[in-house]
Amino acid sequence: MLLLNMEITNGHRSAEQQKMVTVIKELKRQRNALILVHNYQDPAMYEIADLIGDSLGLAKAAVNTSAEVIVMCGVRFMAEMVKILNPEKIVILPTMEAGCSLADMATAARLREVKHQHPDAAVVSYVNTSAEIKAFSDVCCTSANAVQVVNSLPQDKVIFLPDRNLGSYVQSKTRKRIILWDGYCFVHDKLDAETLQMMKRRYPGAKVIAHPEAKQELLALTDYVSGTGGMARFAKEDLSENFIIVTECGMTDLLRHEVPEKNFLSFCNVCPYMKSNSLSLVARSLATLRHEITLPEEIIVGAKRALDRMMAIAVK
Ligand code: 13P
Ligand code: SF4
Repeated sequence: MLLLNMEITNGHRSAEQQKMVTVIKELKRQRNALILVHNYQDPAMYEIADLIGDSLGLAKAAVNTSAEVIVMCGVRFMAEMVKILNPEKIVILPTMEAGCSLADMATAARLREVKHQHPDAAVVSYVNTSAEIKAFSDVCCTSANAVQVVNSLPQDKVIFLPDRNLGSYVQSKTRKRIILWDGYCFVHDKLDAETLQMMKRRYPGAKVIAHPEAKQELLALTDYVSGTGGMARFAKEDLSENFIIVTECGMTDLLRHEVPEKNFLSFCNVCPYMKSNSLSLVARSLATLRHEITLPEEIIVGAKRALDRMMAIAVK
């Protein structure tokens, strides 16, 4: 679904939504809970958020909280990352429908096979992976630090998973040999360079910011490539007035909300996993503590090692 120049939707909250926000705030107080909201979430979620941010930023922020319960309004791999970095806390995902088809494209069985074919290669997994895959990896990376992480490794060969577009982007910036995994995010992979060209012609001078899960030929037409945290920083700091935002549609909603003095045009698709969260599901999750994320101890330890290694290499 392509949405161009969407209208702001967060200005008009219904009475029902307002009631739900009040219920959530009270439950949050009773549970001593922290609510984390990913940058792609629906604007209706902004008012209940203690923090809005990117996947790794949210997981790291949770480390410094005294809250006992953490609700992740995002997708499962993000909630798992919160659990890995905060194993003593109760971590809740409001709906089990919030998976991620990109993360599901990397299975442990396939990774064992690829490792067997390339025993001398390091395994670098993007944070959009399950906790199990992280535990099997030498190191994790985000879209912001992938090149830095790959370049820091002693191995010349790297199995990079699961996103082939981010892997190709890394290959274009490093001398190491990247063994690509055939995974992709359908939300980003469907965005095409021809439509972006058309938008650029229509809005000359607009800065184009894209997520690196988009294809190489599209990224070649952009001014800045980054994960959602970097996109927000660039849009705030850059002095341009007009931007074309190429990623999931919620990013443009957020930028219009946070930076109302600038114009944000959207070239985007909706992620149904992200958008399966809702205020009523958050209220239910706080009332029932469902769905709690639990992971085997050895997976937490292995995945944390890969995440810690990334954080030691890269600050972003
Ligand atoms: P970030 O890690 O940049 O927040 O993005 C998460 C995601 O799901 C991208 O599709
Ligand atoms: Fe997964 Fe893509 Fe949705 Fe991000 S946008 S959660 S990578 S399916």
